[in-house]
Amino acid sequence: MPTYEPRDKYYRKARERGLPSRAAFKIEELIARAKLVPRGGRIADLGCAPGGWLAILARAAGPEGRVVGVDLARCANPPPGVLAIVGDITDPATVSRAIEALGGPADLVTSDLAPKLTGIAARDEARSEEVLAAALEFARRSLREGGAMVAKVFMGPRFKQIVSAFERDFSQVEVTRTAATRPGSSELYVIARGFRRRDGGAPS
Ligand SMILES: C[S@@+](CC[C@H](N)C(=O)[O-])C[C@H]1O[C@@H](n2cnc3c(N)ncnc32)[C@H](O)[C@@H]1O
Repeated sequence: MPTYEPRDKYYRKARERGLPSRAAFKIEELIARAKLVPRGGRIADLGCAPGGWLAILARAAGPEGRVVGVDLARCANPPPGVLAIVGDITDPATVSRAIEALGGPADLVTSDLAPKLTGIAARDEARSEEVLAAALEFARRSLREGGAMVAKVFMGPRFKQIVSAFERDFSQVEVTRTAATRPGSSELYVIARGFRRRDGGAPS
């Protein structure tokens, strides 16, 4: 049986480095492995609170970069230059605000979105898929041709369909785990590269 250690080595490492969450180590590993963040890049981080991914993404993009976060919850101390929008990613007004704040086509969209769990499996799966669909739609509207997406997904009965949805929009899709994912978790990450705009034009 997997052991669950709430204050594990990643929790301690996050505290030592002044990072708001241990989740930061997941995106640090993924972007390093797949070289996903260009210096000066434009990045949207969906489900950004309390801000662990924002800290890593902002550092990787550098001072010339533009990093915009979205979450239902407020990020207490976003890194300098980062805009953290409080809003629901399924709300079109939030989507428009975030796209506008990016100031141009995004190089990377990341999603660590996870709805509050109710314990009712069917409902939790449906809500996870709903926010993931909203993140994918955000990526379709905001990414540049050739751009990339990293998204948290959960292993479940509709896993194959979920991966297929990414394969329709990206030329390269990989599903992976991160070292910082807790043992026994069904959490996986999709790394999708080579975004293909369906309209062939600039993002709306
Ligand atoms: C695992 S946490 C993200 C942790 C974050 N990546 C970090 O490094 O600190 C998942 C987040 O998804 C957010 N979330 C869930 N549903 C959402 C929605 N519909 N719109 C915006 N954010 C949402 C939650 O509020 C929560 O903060």
